[in-house]
Amino acid sequence: CKNPMDKNQLGEPLPSRNQTVGDTTELTTVAGAPVESNQDSMTSGRRGPLMLQEIWFLEKLAHFNREVIPERRMHAKGSGAFGTFTVTHDITNYTKAAIFSEIGKQTKMFARFSTVAGERGAADAERDIRGFALKFYTEEGNWDMVGNNTPVFFFRDPLKFPDLNHAIKRDPRTNMRSSNTNWDFWTSLPEALLQVTIIMGDRGIPSSYRHMHGFSSHAYSLINKNNERVWVKFHFRSQQGIRTLTDQEAAKVVGMDRESHQRDLYEAIEKGKFPKWKMYIQVMTEEQANSMKNNPFDLTKMWHKKDYPLIPVGEFELNKNPENYFADVEQAAFSPANVVPGISFSPDRMLQGRLFSYGDAQRYRLGVNHHQIPVNSPQGVKNYHSFHRDGQMRVDGNRGSQLHYEPNSYGNWNDQPQYALPVEKTGSTDIWRYDFREDDSDYYTQPGELFRAMTSDQQQVLFENTARNLGDSTLQIKHRHIYNCYQADPEYGKGVAKALEIEISTVDLNLPARTSRKANYEANNKHPEL
Ligand code: HEM
Repeated sequence: CKNPMDKNQLGEPLPSRNQTVGDTTELTTVAGAPVESNQDSMTSGRRGPLMLQEIWFLEKLAHFNREVIPERRMHAKGSGAFGTFTVTHDITNYTKAAIFSEIGKQTKMFARFSTVAGERGAADAERDIRGFALKFYTEEGNWDMVGNNTPVFFFRDPLKFPDLNHAIKRDPRTNMRSSNTNWDFWTSLPEALLQVTIIMGDRGIPSSYRHMHGFSSHAYSLINKNNERVWVKFHFRSQQGIRTLTDQEAAKVVGMDRESHQRDLYEAIEKGKFPKWKMYIQVMTEEQANSMKNNPFDLTKMWHKKDYPLIPVGEFELNKNPENYFADVEQAAFSPANVVPGISFSPDRMLQGRLFSYGDAQRYRLGVNHHQIPVNSPQGVKNYHSFHRDGQMRVDGNRGSQLHYEPNSYGNWNDQPQYALPVEKTGSTDIWRYDFREDDSDYYTQPGELFRAMTSDQQQVLFENTARNLGDSTLQIKHRHIYNCYQADPEYGKGVAKALEIEISTVDLNLPARTSRKANYEANNKHPEL
């Protein structure tokens, strides 16, 4: 079998739908014994009770009860496909990563796109961020690029991540999603305004996964063969073009088809219309980063393309639907911690938080040996050696009698010091809970720039989407958002106020500047009477 992804965990070829496993059509138990009947349970007498010795019934129901695994805590609804990445431009001056070693080089990959807030059965065409997760099976190990379709995020400290998800998911009492809760959280963090403006804008509902761009959002680092580091952000630009839905179009789509994104991606690939994205990088030198006014590792801000232009790298194409959704898509485990030599992290503390979170989530969701599941295994690597042993569902032979400790006298397995990262300077080394607002409380410049870059039609769409989405939020929250928008651009504030039918002169535009933790609390708690 050519493609390792066409094999099951035992290395056997996967059957297609009209084949049967092996050459037999006979039903067996999981232990391989013949099943006498899958039609009538064994009972005591024609009208009597079921027998405990009806072991096929026991096995069948017990297995069924365990078919559902925990869904991803967020990004639960998604679609995936296999594909190929091809290098089109030389970036070896920036990175020694083998995946980029020469123009024309191809690497197998897997992609999963997702919505964020909805559960596993949620509709696709919702106003929400889209996940954009890529796994490249390189010969130096798997490189996972776990991005979104937006270049920024709501906040800068991973400590707030559980709060975000509590706020945007279901209310503990009503079990409904609540505009009030959602917007209470968003508007209380003024640094969220850029991300909120993007989501409420005309690109807030992609028409399909094929018609959106992807972003690493975070800065990462690239390291070349001289062990020199630059900071980079990755961009993936859809070659299908951007297509979006209005709220009204999305409502119709959801009414007709809750799986619109899944259907679109699956069918395009089945028809041979393989979707493609071009990969680019933005590069910032360490010197540029050191002299930047803003924190270059602040995930709530973009790097402007005019200062850090897009440098072309390559292209990926998705060309194979998974044979089995659960095996490959539901069990896929992406982690920003999966990097390869030549690609590494940055001081972005959100990224640092994610380095813990994903592996931890997957050890719970899929088990400690989830890297053995074919879609997650480092298929590009000839062999992988760690000292990890045992654990539930260890099915690869557990490395037989090989040594499982180090140091040992037999030379297995050795450190690879040639891959040591260049020293990274962190400036001040005083450990403290720094208030980021004292360092940078400019939440509004970039949202204002984005707003002014919009046509007046796009601005109008932004006002109306925002007003609809704020829904039954309290007046206090609406005023708070108008205040935030007004700071970005008075016209943005006035437009949202008008769409909400709120007289702008009634909005207190003199909230305390949020230049500290305390001021932020005060601003959020002003006007509870509204
Ligand atoms: C999924 C945590 C921010 C993109 C997840 C999962 C966790 C998580 C626990 C589920 C993983 C699994 O069960 O396999 C966090 C934390 C964050 C954060 C703690 C911030 C501190 C972000 C950001 C992005 C992102 C900034 C994009 C730039 C994704 C994507 C998925 C995901 C695409 C779905 C991956 C897949 O398709 O399997 N996140 N996340 N997350 N996250 Fe994050």
